[in-house]
Amino acid sequence: MNAVIQSNAFEAKQRERNMNTKGTKGAIRIEKVDKVYDPEGAAVKAVDTCSLDIGAGEICMIVGPSGCGKTTLLNAIAGFHSISNGTIYLDDELLCGPDKPKAEPGPDRVVVFQNGALFPWKTNLENVAFGPIMQGTMSKKEAFEKARDMMASAGLNGSENSYPGETSSGVRRRVEIVRALMNDPKVLLLDEPYRALDSLTKSVMHEALLDIYYKNKVTIFFITHDLEEAIFLGHKVVIMTTRPCRPKKILDVDIPHPRDYNVLTSKRFRELMDETMEAVHEEAMKAFERGEKEG
Ligand SMILES: Nc1ncnc2c1ncn2[C@@H]1O[C@H](COP(=O)(O)OP(=O)(O)OP(=O)(O)O)[C@@H](O)[C@H]1O
Ligand SMILES: [Mg+2]
Repeated sequence: MNAVIQSNAFEAKQRERNMNTKGTKGAIRIEKVDKVYDPEGAAVKAVDTCSLDIGAGEICMIVGPSGCGKTTLLNAIAGFHSISNGTIYLDDELLCGPDKPKAEPGPDRVVVFQNGALFPWKTNLENVAFGPIMQGTMSKKEAFEKARDMMASAGLNGSENSYPGETSSGVRRRVEIVRALMNDPKVLLLDEPYRALDSLTKSVMHEALLDIYYKNKVTIFFITHDLEEAIFLGHKVVIMTTRPCRPKKILDVDIPHPRDYNVLTSKRFRELMDETMEAVHEEAMKAFERGEKEG
């Protein structure tokens, strides 16, 4: 009898766990990926036997010296560029591999670029609703309703009818992220989204991103040069070698989520910074000595 109760309890727990992870899809498996640009000519190797597992719903931060190959890897996942060797899977789906060097770009993987790309002639709300209307995945009414809801849950109410040019850079960045999430992607690919922001705006943005993440639980592949940003946001921080890149050190950030800015002054945060700094510095020095300035 006890065994039956225990077994039911176990099954209930399993069901609960499955419910909690329902919707958190988007595990990425990168296996021995190489990327050589212009193999017949100058042959620049940007990525070298890179292997990396990113769990579904995980925030994976990629840190590495300028020019080491971070964006190249992101472009391979997004399907913008081919790879030269290796394989990349999204959940059980082969994105690219030996017989298919370039992944198909798709709505399951959305990129937010360094310099943003909102249409200046559309309001923020129109910008957020634009994609699904264009792609025909939602009616105009549905898209505007969802855009309004998502903007409200990202604390962007009040900014809907402003134009990007009338909006602060921090709000613009949030609008871009909300826009990227409109089609419920599995993976959000962020290439230094906060690079141009001052440090105060950045820290507000970090909390805002986590807030959006807690509500949407997509897998996040986030490139940054900022180690503090990486440890504050990430479940995992991957320090890349200088070009051609591959993981040099992978740090599991054992600070529980949800996190807020108080984490930055905690003992554990400082310890993790200390633990990682040396690896980052070492690779930055190598890149510098090779004449590629740190970005
Ligand atoms: N289309 C291309 N053709 C040839 N070489 C390229 C191309 N794109 C990138 N590279 C080279 O590949 C290397 C890696 O570039 P990548 O942009 O991936 O680096 P990164 O780590 O993102 O750099 P940053 O931190 O400055 O953004 C660099 O040496 C770059 O010059
Ligand atoms: Mg880059």
